[in-house]
Amino acid sequence: MSTQTPQNDLLVLEEIHTFIGQFHILEGVSLRVPKDSITVMLGRNGAGKTTTLKSILGLTPPQQGRVIFDGMEIQGKHAYNIANLGIGYVPEHRAIFRALSVMENLKLAERKKGDFDKHEEFIFNLFPDLKRLYKLPGNHLSGGQQQMLAVARALVPDNKLLLIDEPSEGLAPILIQQMMEAIRILSTTTTILLVEQNFIMASQLAQRFTIIDDGKSPHSGLMSDLVNDTELVHHYLGASIKTRKEMELSHEAEN
Ligand SMILES: Nc1ncnc2c1ncn2[C@@H]1O[C@H](COP(=O)(O)OP(=O)(O)O)[C@@H](O)[C@H]1O
Ligand SMILES: [Mg+2]
Repeated sequence: MSTQTPQNDLLVLEEIHTFIGQFHILEGVSLRVPKDSITVMLGRNGAGKTTTLKSILGLTPPQQGRVIFDGMEIQGKHAYNIANLGIGYVPEHRAIFRALSVMENLKLAERKKGDFDKHEEFIFNLFPDLKRLYKLPGNHLSGGQQQMLAVARALVPDNKLLLIDEPSEGLAPILIQQMMEAIRILSTTTTILLVEQNFIMASQLAQRFTIIDDGKSPHSGLMSDLVNDTELVHHYLGASIKTRKEMELSHEAEN
């Protein structure tokens, strides 16, 4: 029996519907994010994962359904007010100010004066490269360093929840390991809702999953169950992804 009760959920989405222009993009997405854990959204390109994050934040506000954060309904609030409740956002594609220095990028991420000073040590311990590079403009950083800066910006203010969109996208394997380790450390102090296409990374980090497919959320549950569910993984995530069971079988066949 699960020990997670709804009272433990920091975030709950109930049947949200979101339109972009005339397009009905989310058609009833539900999910829950228990406190002090990592929940991952999985699904093919174009499924609606980024739109779900933007709907939580009020950037593409849902027209129907409820978004409950820390016991409070937040759908319909302005994005600025939602962020101020303590929700940090790392958008996809390494969203940083490329013309500004690392330090300026971090300072501009403050919600209130002194945020950066308060978290400087934590951030530079997590990403030592950024300390070394802090005077350089963002466009002088490697792709991996830019991604670290994008994550670091979300750590400047106090946040209860972090929404992180595809942090491993386009990173070399060694940097994926570093990013995974950083997210694991972050999850000890902050609840995380992650979008991640890298199934291995997702399965090693997250305790729970929600599959997003065609603007809906057909399956949610424990990651430990999903890694053995070959059929579900293939159906929603594509034939190229191997479940743990298949990896074990191919390993046995080799020996
Ligand atoms: N600004 C937009 N205008 C029209 N359609 C959009 C816009 N943004 C996203 N979409 C559509 O919404 C769907 C979901 O997109 P998205 O949430 O970005 O998917 P994912 O993050 O799962 O790849 C896609 O079909 C995409 O084409
Ligand atoms: Mg996306």
